[in-house]
Amino acid sequence: MARLLGFLALAWSGEAWEARSACDRQDEPSESSFLQHGLRLEDSHLAATEAVTSPEVKTFSLFVKFHKVAGSTWRDYVDTMTGQNRFCSGNCGNPAWPCEQDGTRTALEHQPCRAETIAAFCHTRPTTCTFHGSLGVMYQATLDQNLTVANYSDLAGVQNLWPDSKRFQLYWRVEWARAWLPMNMLYLQNKRILVTTILRDPVEKIRSYYYYRNFEGNHTTFLAFLEFRRDYVAGNWTMEGFEAQKHMPKPAETFSILNRSCCEYETWLGQGSVDKAKITLSTQFDLVGITERMNESLVSLGKLYGLTAEEIGRVGRSIPKDKDNSDEKLDWTDEEKSLATYIATNSLKVYDFGNELFVRQYLALFNSEENMKKAVARFEAVNPPS
Ligand SMILES: *[C@@H]1O[C@H](CO)[C@@H](O)[C@H](O)[C@H]1NC(C)=O
Ligand SMILES: *[C@@H]1O[C@H](CO)[C@@H](O)[C@H](O)[C@H]1NC(C)=O
Ligand SMILES: *[C@@H]1O[C@H](CO)[C@@H](O)[C@H](O)[C@H]1NC(C)=O
Ligand SMILES: *[C@@H]1O[C@H](CO)[C@@H](O)[C@H](O)[C@H]1NC(C)=O
Ligand SMILES: *[C@@H]1O[C@H](CO)[C@@H](O)[C@H](O)[C@H]1NC(C)=O
Ligand SMILES: *[C@@H]1O[C@H](CO)[C@@H](O)[C@H](O)[C@H]1NC(C)=O
Repeated sequence: MARLLGFLALAWSGEAWEARSACDRQDEPSESSFLQHGLRLEDSHLAATEAVTSPEVKTFSLFVKFHKVAGSTWRDYVDTMTGQNRFCSGNCGNPAWPCEQDGTRTALEHQPCRAETIAAFCHTRPTTCTFHGSLGVMYQATLDQNLTVANYSDLAGVQNLWPDSKRFQLYWRVEWARAWLPMNMLYLQNKRILVTTILRDPVEKIRSYYYYRNFEGNHTTFLAFLEFRRDYVAGNWTMEGFEAQKHMPKPAETFSILNRSCCEYETWLGQGSVDKAKITLSTQFDLVGITERMNESLVSLGKLYGLTAEEIGRVGRSIPKDKDNSDEKLDWTDEEKSLATYIATNSLKVYDFGNELFVRQYLALFNSEENMKKAVARFEAVNPPS
């Protein structure tokens, strides 16, 4: 058994992949065959459907997974469409990343985040990243980068999406992400990457996050949770305050967790800057779905991957319906709602922009609002409520 695990660990390691890369390269179609099939990969919305029907085009997927946005559902759809198993797609090259965000430094020293056992389930080199490590990929790739925008006066326009090759190069900066990206940045002609995310109203996201972490949450502790975050985003906080909130039930043990519960969008898309977060969304994402428009978002996701509304509906049948925790949440009080709205000030700007972007993207995918709505009706007919 130990030997088997050792073998799997070896098969997983980068060295083993390097050793195989020489024969993999024989699979690269020649320049001329690429020109013959003439796909316009650089024009990703137009090429998406065509590309899927061409066996010569290899798709890589990055789903940037935020918390409490119905991201598990979105992830299930992407994994099903790409056929990548969830251990493989969840690896992202640094399976310890989500765990590292959680732990206190002292806890980490005693019990480091390890995930080799997960890697053992992934028998082929992954081509997708759909778990929370995706947040680290986008963060590190865009860190200290000025992302060029084709047309600043139309930031939500789909023409701002970077060509695939340029996005591959950007993500390649993140050394650990190379585990699932193309092995060689010199052979990108027949490869495309689809980058997606889904955003939810950040005010609701805060309430969901609190009750998800606190099964028996109540108004008293929710208010204290909100008050500390109000002071944090206002810059009116102290290290003593941070330590004190650690005595609350399910506190933020790290600043990463704290940011997750107040400021997730702007932190991981823009290193805290709303303007940068918008630019990241506009230049990097083929599709920004919206949780409040779930079915419209899902048919758009299917379309991006070259599936008809019926096909994505059939995919949906095998996926558990969104597990929301609305039963556990207490109703808002006015005070809670206004504090959460204040805390979410920056995230709301990112989310509002995400909504603009989503409209432009589905119009590019379906050509009209009407076509998109018809697709939703077909999706819902095939995938009835359970
Ligand atoms: C990005 O732009 C800022 C302001 O224009 C500049 O100071 C900085 O050096 C640029 N960074 C890079 C990596 O180009
Ligand atoms: C940029 O966007 C503006 C506003 O939509 C538009 O009027 C202009 O033609 C665009 N410029 C280019 C070069 O596409
Ligand atoms: C709220 O929850 C906290 C922590 O579980 C508990 O100490 C407190 O008594 C609860 N308050 C009410 C009013 O239920
Ligand atoms: C600053 O933080 C303190 C301590 O939590 C709080 O009492 C006060 O209301 C805060 N001030 C503002 C302007 O938010
Ligand atoms: C949390 O967010 C603040 C404000 O954007 C930022 O300064 C800080 O670096 C972030 N911390 C982490 C761990 O991301
Ligand atoms: C979305 O589609 C599912 C599956 O058909 C259906 O159960 C649900 O009611 C739809 N949601 C909305 C908001 O229409």
